Amino acid sequence: MEVKDLEAAALLAIKEAKNPEELESLRVHYLGRKGALTGVLRSLGQLDPEVRRRVGQEANRAKAALEEALDQALQALKAAARRLAATAVDVTLPGRRSPRGRLHPLNQIMAEVCDIFLHLGFEAVEGPEVELDWYNFEALNLPPDHPARDMQDTFYFDDKVLLRTHTSPMQIRTMEKRRPPVRIIAPGKVYRRDSDITHSPMFHQVEGLLVDRGVTFADLKGVLTAFVHQMFGPEVGVRFRPSYFPFTEPSAEVDIECVICRGEGCRVCKTTGWLEVLGSGMVHPAVFEAVGYDPETYTGFAFGLGIERIAMLKYGIDDIRLFFDNDLRFLRQF
Ligand code: DAH
Repeated sequence: MEVKDLEAAALLAIKEAKNPEELESLRVHYLGRKGALTGVLRSLGQLDPEVRRRVGQEANRAKAALEEALDQALQALKAAARRLAATAVDVTLPGRRSPRGRLHPLNQIMAEVCDIFLHLGFEAVEGPEVELDWYNFEALNLPPDHPARDMQDTFYFDDKVLLRTHTSPMQIRTMEKRRPPVRIIAPGKVYRRDSDITHSPMFHQVEGLLVDRGVTFADLKGVLTAFVHQMFGPEVGVRFRPSYFPFTEPSAEVDIECVICRGEGCRVCKTTGWLEVLGSGMVHPAVFEAVGYDPETYTGFAFGLGIERIAMLKYGIDDIRLFFDNDLRFLRQF
């Protein structure tokens, strides 16, 4: 075979070699002691001097070219192997877990409270935190100069626009849009200009409203007692204490037996043995009139509870600010 053809065949084979072993056997095949090109070089002596020189030169050049090609091919294969090794995935390694978060204690309590009422057949609605005076006060039987407005230190934007001080405006927004029967809860954030160990300028409430024909105070007591027993345990005592809210008549605050001293009297319950958990009452006829419901046809009850307060009672926390400091050592306990 001509040296040129030999060289071309060898270069092609080197190019197609898939691993170092194949390259090595090619090297042996062409350049080894009994190799094809070696054979050509060995047999030079039998040639005419003129042919010998020409073939000799060519064979030596081909030898160098093959050595070079073998070397490059080997380096390329090694580099490819290194790249593969660097990106290899060991599927037998155990997985790395990302740290798991959890719900903020207030969101946990919020979910628990809503869940209890949803199971009793209430539907959750949400509404704006920036509210009109009409919804936050006037339609709730709190006209502009009503003294009870003092109970709620309000953040005003202007005469008509404010940050809602309670979730009660959702009673009005809901009744404006629907006819009875109405059975809703309204969870959300509320705002007051107040800040100390039991007050935060932003806190959470859940409002409740049930309106239908023939709803009585006994319904209010039944629903709220069921709620307290699910939230704090069936053995906890409940009492309804007369109170005043402009949007309900009669009004009642609901107390539970002190969860700290079990009714004995302690610092937390100020020795009364009772803790206030929510406000409630029968919807005032003036509220029905504001939304166009006939107070002769419909009656209803409403209630409002503070999530921070319930969380503090449930977990025995004495400073509301702990909820908002975002100290993970505190938050991780729940
Ligand atoms: N809105 C009252 C508050 O923030 C709580 C409340 C009391 C809501 C009585 C009611 C209710 O719906 O009937 O202090």
